[in-house]
Amino acid sequence: MEKVRLGILGLGNVGGSHARKLLEGQVPEIVVGAVCDHKPDRLDWAKETLGEDIPRFDNAEAMMDSGLIDAIVVAVPHYDHPKYAMIAMKKGLHVIIEKPAGVYTKQVLEMMKVADECNVVFAIMMNQRTNCIYRKMREIVKSGELGEIKRTSWIITNWYRPQFYYDSGDWRATWAGEGGGVLLNQCPHNLDLWQWICGMPAKIDAHLHFGKWHDIEVEDDVTAYVEYPNGATGTFITTTGDSAGTNRFEIILEKGKLIAEIEGRECKLTMWKSDITEAEFSKTCQKPFGSPEFVKGEVETDGQNPQHMGVFAAFAANILRGEPLVADGREGINGLTISNAMHLSAWTGKEIDLSSFDHDLYYEELMKRVATSRCKETTAGATAADMSNTFGS
Ligand SMILES: NC(=O)c1ccc[n+]([C@@H]2O[C@H](COP(=O)([O-])OP(=O)(O)OC[C@H]3O[C@@H](n4cnc5c(N)ncnc54)[C@H](O)[C@@H]3O)[C@@H](O)[C@H]2O)c1
Repeated sequence: MEKVRLGILGLGNVGGSHARKLLEGQVPEIVVGAVCDHKPDRLDWAKETLGEDIPRFDNAEAMMDSGLIDAIVVAVPHYDHPKYAMIAMKKGLHVIIEKPAGVYTKQVLEMMKVADECNVVFAIMMNQRTNCIYRKMREIVKSGELGEIKRTSWIITNWYRPQFYYDSGDWRATWAGEGGGVLLNQCPHNLDLWQWICGMPAKIDAHLHFGKWHDIEVEDDVTAYVEYPNGATGTFITTTGDSAGTNRFEIILEKGKLIAEIEGRECKLTMWKSDITEAEFSKTCQKPFGSPEFVKGEVETDGQNPQHMGVFAAFAANILRGEPLVADGREGINGLTISNAMHLSAWTGKEIDLSSFDHDLYYEELMKRVATSRCKETTAGATAADMSNTFGS
């Protein structure tokens, strides 16, 4: 195989964007083999925008069985990521799923089992891992040059969405259609990065507000407190209701701190570094108001931030030559477990211990909400928005 023939399942906001960029040749080792959407208007869009030559299907399995594709990107709503990933894997296709890995860990565990049984490449679209700021932050934390983590805090409130966004798809922001709100739709990227850089927390205590800023069923305002296995603590604050939002990720370590700040397309990583740990300084300092000296500066990175196309390029290189993926599909369970634990904590009013996370209880609690979930009307003409201004929505 010289190039990977990719089938695109779901031609909405993100699937449509992938199709256009891949057809422009942005990933030289991928050709679009076929596209699929069950909505006739999306197939009309594909014919007009992608050209008559790209084979179109209205049924996922028909596209998988066509012999026209080697791999598939699953870009339908979240509940169906595991379903179509498993069908495709069993048919011997390589799979890349959109985020989140699924809605509840129980279905993702099943998908991971199938991935282990089938000899195919399995990846997940964690495109924000390609951002040089976060790659560098991880490299510094993992290198140990600043010592162990003492505290993490991420305020990620620049996921602002107006009501029209929620009304733009009948599945959005409903328990039955989406299975969650800002944690499931916007924050899978941040929850993934948080654990990718700082490791998994051990305990989670979260406060969620449901439909606080919008007419929706699911959460649009979250404040969570976590504890790590080494005793470090962390907070995660997010909402889709702050129009002047912030994206500031701060990690305090024994010998300094790292702050990643993103505003629009501006990304900045700043480091404070001391040559002594805070504990050692505290023991040896002889001045009542003394504090360690730091060298502070903006951290240089390679400046690369290829996002979705970078993830696709790595996916193809893995299929063709075994090169590393940006994110193995199995790693999707980590951020989803944090997300599910935040929901469960809010629903039960209890702290959740991740070492004994109850996948069945989460599923039962979710299904209670699905049972009373209301249907919505889609705002006419609102599907397939321009994604060019959003990196990770
Ligand atoms: N990685 C990212 O940056 C990013 C960005 C946006 C969305 N996403 C994820 O992508 C997924 C889709 O989001 P979206 O905003 O594109 O949604 P969307 O509603 O705009 O598009 C989904 C499309 O899938 C089609 N579809 C649904 N079920 C289908 C089926 N069984 N067979 C064929 N077609 C089917 C729908 O008709 C629709 O056109 C979500 O899980 C979302 O979280 C990821």
